[in-house]
Amino acid sequence: MIAKILLPVLAAIGSVSAQTKVTTCTVTTTTINSQADATALSSCGAIKGSVVIGEGAGENVDISGPSIITGDLAVLENTVIKTLQSTSLTAVGGAFALDKLNVVTSITFPVLDSVKNISWTSVPNLGDMSIAVTKADYVVIADTFLATLAGINLASVKTLNINNNRRLIKFDTDLATLSDNFLVQANGGGQLTINLPKLIWIANMTIANVTSFLVPSLATVNGSARFDSNYFSSFSAPNLTSTKAGDISFVGNAKLSNITVPKLSAIAGGLLIANNTALEEIDFPKLATIGGAVKLRGNFTSVDFPALDDVKGAFDISSTADVSKSCDTFQKLAPSTQGGGGQIQGTYSCTSHNDQANSDTGSGTSSGGGSSGGGDSTGTKNNTANGLSFNAAILGLAVVGGFSQALW
Ligand SMILES: *[C@@H]1O[C@H](CO)[C@@H](O)[C@H](O)[C@H]1NC(C)=O
Ligand SMILES: *[C@@H]1O[C@H](CO)[C@@H](O)[C@H](O)[C@H]1NC(C)=O
Ligand SMILES: *[C@@H]1O[C@H](CO)[C@@H](O)[C@H](O)[C@H]1NC(C)=O
Ligand SMILES: *[C@@H]1O[C@H](CO)[C@@H](O)[C@H](O)[C@H]1NC(C)=O
Ligand SMILES: *[C@@H]1O[C@H](CO)[C@@H](O)[C@H](O)[C@H]1NC(C)=O
Ligand SMILES: *[C@@H]1O[C@H](CO)[C@@H](O)[C@H](O)[C@H]1NC(C)=O
Ligand SMILES: *[C@@H]1O[C@H](CO)[C@@H](O)[C@H](O)[C@H]1NC(C)=O
Ligand SMILES: *[C@@H]1O[C@H](CO)[C@@H](O)[C@H](O)[C@H]1NC(C)=O
Ligand SMILES: *[C@@H]1O[C@H](CO)[C@@H](O)[C@H](O)[C@H]1NC(C)=O
Repeated sequence: MIAKILLPVLAAIGSVSAQTKVTTCTVTTTTINSQADATALSSCGAIKGSVVIGEGAGENVDISGPSIITGDLAVLENTVIKTLQSTSLTAVGGAFALDKLNVVTSITFPVLDSVKNISWTSVPNLGDMSIAVTKADYVVIADTFLATLAGINLASVKTLNINNNRRLIKFDTDLATLSDNFLVQANGGGQLTINLPKLIWIANMTIANVTSFLVPSLATVNGSARFDSNYFSSFSAPNLTSTKAGDISFVGNAKLSNITVPKLSAIAGGLLIANNTALEEIDFPKLATIGGAVKLRGNFTSVDFPALDDVKGAFDISSTADVSKSCDTFQKLAPSTQGGGGQIQGTYSCTSHNDQANSDTGSGTSSGGGSSGGGDSTGTKNNTANGLSFNAAILGLAVVGGFSQALW
């Protein structure tokens, strides 16, 4: 049915360019609902518009022919399709969207190099992927059966969201810059290792449930960095010098025993380190300025910030262990109203032997543990609260893939 409509449309609007002999077919949105539809498409060199694959197209759909689709390529809630391929497609100008495809196992696009928006969500049996993408702005890979993302090799990207891919245990990429958000959660049954050897700057990241996270070249975090419920025992960012706007947080990383940031000198937002019960020492040798509040909760026995001379927000340390030596040192930096030199501008608090230290993982003003939260002597407490509520929103987003799986 559709083919009959499609063919004349293509014939009427298709035009042959003298030089390249590429037939451009203009369609608003064409739905491929039979093999004949696919065959009709195969005579187009380029498609101006979007292509949707319907259930009538069958189990194994081949859309070879066009090298470009200027709009979207979408397969949504299709319970028939098992494999999709094109040996010719190099670029998708809009979204390459796969959503709620229960029986899709393989996507084969060996020359696909450029896609504006890769959005693959709830494709739980997709285990084979052949693509060669080097350019994309937005990438969401959620709830697939992929064991590798080897076909995605981007130097820069805006958003990368990788969640609930239960077979994904390795993500190793030459990504150099990321300008919006990087979200990782619930992949590989907790076995995911991430290696970003070339990453130099990243806007915001929320990393959860990974066993290893390597960023040897990372120099700048432009926004926030949050590490939740990971399984690595050490975190190292040897070249990180600053964060430009936002918090750094490490919360509930049960094995984390060592945070190594030898060059980090400025955090624009707040610093939250909480409930990392294996972390015994916190040592940030160059950290001088913190634009927000500091909140450290855990089982540690020492906190060493030898270069610290400017904290805009509150400074709140509480441990299950004895941190009194560190408290003595930081007391000297407390606000003058608390008897210190004023380098810390918000309320200063430091407590040892707090059995409940690990139960307080929230941001902002402290609660519990006998510290004096809520001080407003300088009115500069906004940073931390803003930062952490922002991160909470990010986490909400990251769960979407898993959530839709559950609904399904
Ligand atoms: C990417 O495509 C998906 C699916 O069409 C859409 O939901 C999402 O909003 C798109 N993202 C952007 C940033 O355009
Ligand atoms: C992040 O910071 C780096 C280094 O200062 C800068 O080159 C880059 O443009 C910044 N990126 C964004 C998105 O602000
Ligand atoms: C994964 O991380 C989230 C936090 O983002 C946490 O709530 C969850 O318990 C973690 N899952 C496992 C299995 O550790
Ligand atoms: C770390 O930074 C220095 C100075 O900017 C640079 O020379 C070096 O190559 C960087 N190291 C890595 C692993 O990127
Ligand atoms: C990410 O980081 C930038 C700073 O580079 C910030 O302006 C932005 O609000 C952050 N959040 C999102 C969702 O991009
Ligand atoms: C933490 O790790 C660094 C290297 O990553 C190492 O030099 C340092 O000795 C470790 N510190 C502790 C307390 O284990
Ligand atoms: C951390 O401290 C709590 C409270 O004292 C204790 O129950 C727990 O065993 C400690 N954990 C570690 C890893 O030391
Ligand atoms: C602290 O982290 C452990 C995992 O190490 C987690 O089971 C527990 O729920 C966390 N506690 C709070 C209050 O977040
Ligand atoms: C805190 O936030 C309030 C409301 O957003 C704003 O009016 C106030 O100026 C902020 N204070 C600082 C110190 O940023």
